[in-house]
Amino acid sequence: MKVAVIGSGGREHTIIKKLKESKKISKLYAIPGNGGMAEDAQLVPIPVTDINKICEFAKEVKIDYAVVAPDDPLVAGMVDALNEIGVPCFGPDKKAAIIEGSKVFSKDLMKKYGIPTAAYGVYSNMEDALAYVETAPLPTVVKADGLALGKGVIIAETREQAKEAVISIMGDKVFGASGNQIVIEEFLTGPEVSVLAFSDGKTLIPMVSAMDHKRAKDNDKGLNTGGMGTIAPNPYYTSDVAKTCMDEIFIPTIRAMEKEGRPFKGCLFFGLMITPNGPKVIEYNCRFGDPETQVVLPLLKSDLFEIMQACTNGTLHQAEVEFSNGAACCVVMASEGYPQKYESGFPITVDSDIEATVIYAGAKKEGDTVLSAGGRVLGVSATAPDLKAAIEKAYKETEKVHFKNAYKRNDIGARALKALD
Ligand code: AMP
Ligand code: GLY
Repeated sequence: MKVAVIGSGGREHTIIKKLKESKKISKLYAIPGNGGMAEDAQLVPIPVTDINKICEFAKEVKIDYAVVAPDDPLVAGMVDALNEIGVPCFGPDKKAAIIEGSKVFSKDLMKKYGIPTAAYGVYSNMEDALAYVETAPLPTVVKADGLALGKGVIIAETREQAKEAVISIMGDKVFGASGNQIVIEEFLTGPEVSVLAFSDGKTLIPMVSAMDHKRAKDNDKGLNTGGMGTIAPNPYYTSDVAKTCMDEIFIPTIRAMEKEGRPFKGCLFFGLMITPNGPKVIEYNCRFGDPETQVVLPLLKSDLFEIMQACTNGTLHQAEVEFSNGAACCVVMASEGYPQKYESGFPITVDSDIEATVIYAGAKKEGDTVLSAGGRVLGVSATAPDLKAAIEKAYKETEKVHFKNAYKRNDIGARALKALD
């Protein structure tokens, strides 16, 4: 079968590498992919948001199945458009992708169905929001309703910061129409856990849990980034926590979406906080996480393509979904200066004896040379029987990847190891 993966980052490269293991697939396209993936898939230079062009391409080469990985095309209805021309997809349709596309929708859904989350208020009028933050408990959390390139959440420590956040989102419209409404919510504390889950709309199967490291610098200092590294499994996600999450969060969410006439098919991402009052939902994403995917899929023992098809066809209850008992670590190598100003365009070389997987995110190809082409350039992903060994291996193998201006955190997984002790 001919399969297209839509997206261009490390998440998509990981999905492609896993799909390559499936015997059912004869040809893989990455739309648009990146230069670092060229060995694994044929690159098709169409932007992920150009739904019409992607549909035209799918018809032209007779794509049999598509995996729509990023949030924007999912929220914009890429799956609906591809389904209409007869291409089955992995990913939610527009009606279900709203679970990520609108924070107001997701908060109201959780409230309606009693799914644990931070207390909140919705504001569509700036004056009301400003009046609320005058008396809100601090810190307070201000969130733009819609997609905002991962930057729509502001944790305000002071009233001044909270007001600035409200004005920039609702008044200055820094995220455009995504800021027509905002959510202001209670600040929660506790370790964060990412759980990705397969769903066919009725059945839900959680994958191995993961921990992201969002800050740019060691010890969780510095600016927020798209993720500087991940480990799996997450030690804070104990079997007790997992059971509570399944009973109080995962299954209720899938049932709620079904009841709302928005059955969710694809990968549902639960951003959880393990608070002193139990696990609560921080956010839903309607897709695989990045860089969580880079540690979760390498631990999947079953055929990813068969699972994806089962999600599409509503037969997930019959599918074999098995994960290894081992652990994984992905260390992101970024361009020095990311997430602010950085230089790129430098050749990347990888020693031939590398024993980890190099997952490209911000890379391009010129002739036979792969060059850095973004903030997060690549991830080095390693698996091992336990977490300590996976972390050591990932770091050791980063020494075999070379490009000018390479920057990495040195403590990916350190907090997780401490928690294990
Ligand atoms: P999001 O963009 O929704 O993933 O939020 C980004 C980050 O903000 C999360 O990973 C949390 O670390 C933090 N965050 C979001 N909501 C809350 C909250 N209610 N309390 C504390 N931290 C939060
Ligand atoms: N790693 C968080 C996300 O993919 O949104």
